[in-house]
Parts: sequence; C-alpha cells; structure tokens
Amino acid sequence: MARISASVFTSHVPAIGAAIDMDKTHEPYWQPLFEGYAFSKTWMKQHTPDVVILVFNDHATAFSLDMIPTFAIGTAAQYTPADEGWGPRPVPVVQGHPELAAHIAQSVIQQDFDLTIVNKMDVDHGLTVPLSLMCGQPSAWPCPVIPLAVNVVQYPVPSGQRCFNLGKAIAKAVSSFDGKLNVHIWGTGGMSHQLQGPRAGLINRQFDNAFLDKLIADPAGLAQMPHIDYVREAGSEGIELVMWLIARGAMADVNGGAAPEVKHRFYHVPASNTAVGHLILENSAQ
Ligand code: DHB
Ligand code: FE
Repeated sequence: MARISASVFTSHVPAIGAAIDMDKTHEPYWQPLFEGYAFSKTWMKQHTPDVVILVFNDHATAFSLDMIPTFAIGTAAQYTPADEGWGPRPVPVVQGHPELAAHIAQSVIQQDFDLTIVNKMDVDHGLTVPLSLMCGQPSAWPCPVIPLAVNVVQYPVPSGQRCFNLGKAIAKAVSSFDGKLNVHIWGTGGMSHQLQGPRAGLINRQFDNAFLDKLIADPAGLAQMPHIDYVREAGSEGIELVMWLIARGAMADVNGGAAPEVKHRFYHVPASNTAVGHLILENSAQ
C-alpha cells in the first residue's frame, strides 16, 4: 500500500527560478528568502519520497483559453520544462509516475471528481520553482512527480471546499494503490499577490499568517472560505492559495488519523510581487 507521509506548501514566483538559475541567491534581496528554504532542502534529502504529487497551476503555458480543465492529472512518463518567453529554465526534465497517476485518475474519477487526463504537457514555473526551492540544483530531480494542475487563472475557479474534498479523494486513492510507495503531496502558489489593475502590488501579511495558522489547525474551517475572500484579502492571484487545500485535504488528520507535526514554517515579503509562505507538515509514522 502507498502512504502519504508529508505535505509541503510553498509559493512559486518566476523570479525565484531566475535568481537560482542566474546564481543570485546570495544577493541581499534574495538571501533571506533562500535562507528560509535551507532547512527544507536538507529535510527533502533526508525524506526523499518515492513520488511527489505536485498540485500547481499552469499560467497559460500548457493550457490556453482554447481549453481550460479545472483539475488535470499528468499521467505521462515525463514533462519538459516550458519555454515561458525567455527560453526553458535550465532544470532537469521531470520524470512522471504513470502507474500511480493512472491509479489516482481511476480512483478519484470513480469518487465523482472529473479529472482531465493529460498524457503530454510542458510544465511552467508553477511546477519547476517549487521543485527548485525544495531540491536545489541537482542534475536530475530526486524522485518522480505527478503534476496535478488546477485552474486558478480563468474564472470560474474551483472553491476551497472542492479542493479540500479532492485532497481527501486523493488520500483514499493513494491508500488503495497496490504497491509500497512513500508519497508526498505538495500544494503550491500564493500567498497574497496581485499582478494587475489598481491594486497591483497588494500584500496582506495578516491574512497570510492567519491562513497558515488555520491551514495547520482548522483546515476544514478554512475550506469554507468563499473564493471572493481570497481575492479581496489576498489579491487576484492570491486565489492560487485554494490549491494548498488539496494537499491539506490529503493529510491523515482530516481522514481519520492523527494530527500532523509542523516541521517547518516560513514567511517572507517580498519576492518579486509576492508574499512567500512555506510549510512542511509530516504525518505521524503510525
Ligand atoms: C509573480 C507571481 C506569480 O504567482 C506568477 O505566476 C507570476 C509572477 C510575481 O510575483 O512576479
Ligand atoms: Fe502564479
């Protein structure tokens, strides 16, 4: 049987990827941000899973207005880093896990979630920047990744409750996989930021930190927050935070098990236009 042992939550920002790729992580602007991930890189080395389910959003890279899946699972053997306009990031090709991905698709669709199955997809900063933050600059990523793309770019977007319930369905799917696998689930994007319009540059530290508190201690309550509150409080791109509820919904405590241990918590402003938040939660080793 496969088991979810931990969840990781982190913001993504293209400029973070550029800072890593251009060797700027020690510059005064970036140093405090990367310091917040030093623990995480060590933790990741010590707790490398067999596979990461990486919940992220595509930024009109693989999908466009031609096709907008609300939830899409990658079932491919590999995913190429996308060219987002400045050339593809110089990071390894992402290896997939077709067997577990196909099993999750089967199980979750039979639990009444309509996942789009994606057999070919390039992956943008939404997926590669969290990998870089957690794994550094290896010549190959340390484990396979199942991309789970969520539409938070074009309205209508899924609710926090729907995301939380999807996480629970994924937990059930993983636990019924016929094979021994140690699985992480990562929720990415956020925290507060707005890239457009009169409120461009919006950051809300109070909201972000309350969100982190509630994500840890009362995720079911947090799942009830309507999407308009994300946009009002965390900005138009702050809606990316609903994806964190998918990863949180897959943890043991909300599926009849014990509360997770908070291994790491970090919050930093600014990174480009974004407030960066980061959490590592571990399930107890039953
Ligand atoms: C920024 C943040 C994002 O989430 C994104 O997708 C693009 C840019 C930024 O802060 O610049
Ligand atoms: Fe984004």
